[in-house]
Amino acid sequence: MQTILDIQNLKVSFDQVEVIRGVDFNVKKGEIHGILGESGSGKTVTAFSIAKLHENCSYEGDIIYNKESILSMNESKLSTVRGYEIAYIFQNPHESFNPNIRMDKQLKEAMSIHGLQPSREEIIRVLISVGLKTPDLILKKYPDQLSGGECQRVMIGMSLLCEPQIIIADEPTSAIDASIKKQIIDLLKSINKTYGTTIILISHDMDLVQNICDSMSVMYGGLVLEQGTVEKVMEDPIHPYTQALINCTASLNQEYKRLYTLEGLPMSPDYYKNRCPFYERCDKKSEECIDEMPQLITLNGRSYRCKKI
Ligand SMILES: Nc1ncnc2c1ncn2[C@@H]1O[C@H](COP(=O)(O)OP(=O)(O)OP(=O)(O)O)[C@@H](O)[C@H]1O
Ligand SMILES: [Mg+2]
Repeated sequence: MQTILDIQNLKVSFDQVEVIRGVDFNVKKGEIHGILGESGSGKTVTAFSIAKLHENCSYEGDIIYNKESILSMNESKLSTVRGYEIAYIFQNPHESFNPNIRMDKQLKEAMSIHGLQPSREEIIRVLISVGLKTPDLILKKYPDQLSGGECQRVMIGMSLLCEPQIIIADEPTSAIDASIKKQIIDLLKSINKTYGTTIILISHDMDLVQNICDSMSVMYGGLVLEQGTVEKVMEDPIHPYTQALINCTASLNQEYKRLYTLEGLPMSPDYYKNRCPFYERCDKKSEECIDEMPQLITLNGRSYRCKKI
């Protein structure tokens, strides 16, 4: 399968604090790739960097999308990539819309930014395809008059109108009622199947990543500590952090066993400048882990950063 996105040693700094410290991962065309990691590990900053959405930061490394460097693209090329070829679905859909503009106008305005003028029929057809049963009514409403689930479906519909190559969904169900979560995830799965759209799904939820993704990256402290197919990573996790995450989840399914907890909290990015970010919490650590950042090791289609393996 062709690689659609190749992130190479990506570093992102805000005010000289490096929060993304050398992220590497690649995504194949048509697959669902999960990015898993604790709060603050750098998932959203990485996701925003893919279409170079951050302002006032410095980027190093490279992001290769369909063989072109996003970090070297000029603004006009970037504006076709952003939202059009690479679409985003955010955590809180209400915040992504202007509360003072009715949905029909809002949708048309968003499309015109990309030079698109979909007819009302096209918009309605797409809204029906994302499971909205009364699209005419939805289009007349203001964002605040829609439920979280409806709003997220409109957002997904909007991205489909642009026929994107990649959809980046950053915790798309975390602000939505539990009963609607499964429907939104099923919708993303069906978009992937029907249109072959590559999906990058950011989540804290190991079960979700295991159930719907083909491949995954595990992030911690602004680095990807492990990447591989979901099958291989879940069956045989290499990195001590991935092992700990899987242990926390596995014990939820076992009766009469004390729940495993990973002690401690992630440290702030300026604390662990030249050491493995997981050092403090790792039960396999030794002196050599303090000296330098663990290098990326790639073996049989998997990659990881750990000196102890
Ligand atoms: N605009 C910014 N300026 C400075 N630092 C930032 C900025 N955005 C994020 N950070 C820092 O970058 C680090 C990673 O943040 P990020 O939002 O990517 O985490 P996350 O993995 O998405 O967490 P969560 O699961 O809570 O959404 C954090 O230490 C955060 O404080
Ligand atoms: Mg986030």
